[in-house]
Amino acid sequence: MRAKKLIRKNILDLIPYSSARDDFKSDKNFIYLDANESSYGNDLNRYPDNRHLKLIQLICSYKFVNNDNLVLCNGTDELIDLVIRIFCKPGIDKIITLNPTYGMYDVSAKINDVENITINLDSKFQIDTSKVISKFDSNTKIIFITNPNNPTGNIFDEKSIIKIIESFQGIVFIDEAYVDYSKKSFLKKINKYDNLIISQTFSKALGLAGIRLGIGYSNKAIIDYIKKVKPPYNINSLTEKKAINSISKYYVNSNQVNETIVERINLSEKLIKINSVKKVFPSNSNFILVEFNDANKIYQQLIQNKIVVRNRSNVVGCSNCLRITVGTPEQNQLLIKTLKNL
Ligand SMILES: Cc1ncc(COP(=O)(O)O)c(C=O)c1O
Repeated sequence: MRAKKLIRKNILDLIPYSSARDDFKSDKNFIYLDANESSYGNDLNRYPDNRHLKLIQLICSYKFVNNDNLVLCNGTDELIDLVIRIFCKPGIDKIITLNPTYGMYDVSAKINDVENITINLDSKFQIDTSKVISKFDSNTKIIFITNPNNPTGNIFDEKSIIKIIESFQGIVFIDEAYVDYSKKSFLKKINKYDNLIISQTFSKALGLAGIRLGIGYSNKAIIDYIKKVKPPYNINSLTEKKAINSISKYYVNSNQVNETIVERINLSEKLIKINSVKKVFPSNSNFILVEFNDANKIYQQLIQNKIVVRNRSNVVGCSNCLRITVGTPEQNQLLIKTLKNL
């Protein structure tokens, strides 16, 4: 297994924290005097059962993966940090990101004193595969690929991603935060490629950004190392409960995603007709990147009208661009009306 060769020695050698209840979980007949919790009962006086069996079983049944192939995290952001810490030696190793992209890879790399080699996407926001491959060296440990990409909204050519996975000796981390809107996932490939990690999240299509729940998928060896390094109780009981109650409702009836996709198409068609709009980029996500004549001015004017969008003008490849989340039909109507009146 390649992962073992890539993992930092201190992590390979690590004896993980053993939580107070590793041997005696959830048996109501025991008296628990082992974890210094309050002994006065309410729903939340106990640490969570960190096996999260029911939630993991539910995710497995909807995603068609084995329970050895996933780990729950406090949002994708926690997973990004854990993966950098597991594979990259501070001050020595490097990651690659494809710009413009989600900002947390760079922030987490900086926090961990890991150099981030940034490679710009081409003019169609696609991956310049040969440029990426030319940057690989023995200290490059992870490449982050966001698919669909944020802030551009598009998906990448599948062959380019496969070429990178097959050419790279390090870890390919595919962030699929917006996958429910594109329906193009690499999840099935986790057992084919031993250097692949996929992340998904409850924060977008499942409508639960507030509970902070992300999922990492990979082969068992990598998942076991992530479990070893993560804080023992990173998923709290309230998050677990809410996720269990919501996941079946979402997967049985994902009307909101379909409505968002229809609204994205309508909104794009309306935006391009607005005078101040120069270009509307194609999107496979729940947001649209839009180039304006003067994005900073439009951004301020929208704020004056109590509408907040994300100003991406200073991001490479996105000058004069605003990133607009697709709202409800009413919110989108109001946005278009406001933009027309500016
Ligand atoms: C590409 C991408 N990955 C991850 C995240 C954060 O995910 P989470 O809420 O699971 O930490 C975001 C948030 O906007 C994102 O755009």
